[in-house]
Amino acid sequence: MELIDGKAIAAQIRKEIAEEVQQIKARGGKTPHLAAVLVGHDGGSETYVANKVKMCEEVGFKSTLIRYENNVSEDELLACVDKLNRDADIDGFIVQLPLPKHISEDKVTEAIDYRKDVDGFHPVNVGRMSIGLPCFLSATPSGITELLRRYSIETSGKHCVVLGRSNIVGKPVATLMLQKGYPGDCTVTVCHSRTKNIKEICLQADIIIAALGVPKFLKDDMVKEGAVVIDVGTTRVPSTETKSGFKLTGDVDFENVAPKCSYITPVPGGVGPMTIISLMKNTLLAGKKAIYP
Ligand code: GUN
Repeated sequence: MELIDGKAIAAQIRKEIAEEVQQIKARGGKTPHLAAVLVGHDGGSETYVANKVKMCEEVGFKSTLIRYENNVSEDELLACVDKLNRDADIDGFIVQLPLPKHISEDKVTEAIDYRKDVDGFHPVNVGRMSIGLPCFLSATPSGITELLRRYSIETSGKHCVVLGRSNIVGKPVATLMLQKGYPGDCTVTVCHSRTKNIKEICLQADIIIAALGVPKFLKDDMVKEGAVVIDVGTTRVPSTETKSGFKLTGDVDFENVAPKCSYITPVPGGVGPMTIISLMKNTLLAGKKAIYP
């Protein structure tokens, strides 16, 4: 069993990005600028956005954090999106999800100029991804395929089982694993809450990508000997062992499943660190106008 060290790979890519930003600045080019919009005070969202802003600093980007209270109106938020769309200094921006119930996430996502949609959530980017055109790939799926690439894990002709059908992980990662070329060319099965025989399907998998949000869902009796297991789960489970009072828990029962795997990602330190790095990669591409000249 080999552990896929997302933290180490992310650190390596962070260095690569920082070096490129330095070269751009040395040539007198524009410093990439990411804006993040955060609504309310959800603990998870606060942490994610703080980490994104911190990572911008580390790679040499400019960043802007825009905060609203939970009672911000949909119109106010849409006006903010419009302003960011038209601000020539902002190369890319994200609106952290989830949003309060009185605001339509779909409306906000669609209002973002797809050329600045570094989250890759806009229907134009999702559509372009699905037909294999250049686009901003959403961060978690792109982080997962980058891990497979950096570990040279064979994917061609393999059976990849994706657990979960969310718009931000399950569906797009299934699309990427199905894509022609490496790291794709898989036969893909997507399982979800209504799937009847998940255990039997998982037992046929060469690669399992678990993105259900159910802590420790995947057990050893669901995994074939030698399978590759990618754990996308990040549920905050109350814990007395940590200062924060919670522990990030994956969708895979790690201790139980790891001995059967050829490769496995830990939580934390697997997919998580790659997600922020993928956002940085997209911001760099946006700064260079590399996808949409
Ligand atoms: N909420 C959970 N993951 C994400 C993400 O990648 N981007 C945004 N904007 N919100 C999220």
